Amino acid sequence: MTMKMLVAAALSAAVILPGAAMAGDAAAGAAKSASCNGCHRAGNPTAPVLDGMPEMYLVNAIMAYKPGGTRQNPTMTAMVAALSAGDAADIAAHYAGK
Ligand code: HEC
Repeated sequence: MTMKMLVAAALSAAVILPGAAMAGDAAAGAAKSASCNGCHRAGNPTAPVLDGMPEMYLVNAIMAYKPGGTRQNPTMTAMVAALSAGDAADIAAHYAGK
C-alpha cells in the first residue's frame, strides 16, 4: 500500500464512520475559523459565504483542498494545510450552525 492509498483509506474511514468522534464541536470551530471569516463571512464578495452550508458538504470541501485532493485553489490549499479532519469537522459544525 502506498502512502497515498493509506491517506485515502484513512480519509474515507473518517468520513464514513458515524459516531461522536466525528461530530463537529461548533464552539471549537468558532475559534478555529477566525482566520477564515475575513473572506467567507456574509457581506464579503471575495469567497462563497459558508454560513448555513450543510456540515457534511463543508467537511468534504475543506478536505478536498488538501494537496492531492479534488479541489485545486492555492489560497484554500494554504488555508487548510494545517487542519486535521477533526478541525474540519469542528469548523463545519460552526458554519452549519450546529
Ligand atoms: C484569502 C481568502 C480566503 C481565506 C482566508 C479562506 N478562504 Fe476558503 N475560499 C476562498 C476562495 C477564493 C474560495 C473559492 C475557491 C475555489 O474556487 O475553489 C474558497 C472556498 C472555500 C470553500 C468551498 C466553498 C464552496 O462553496 O464549495 C470552503 C468550505 C472554504 N473555502 C473554507 C475555508 C476555511 C475553513 C478557511 C479557514 C481555515 C478558509 N476557507 C479561508 C478564499 C478564502
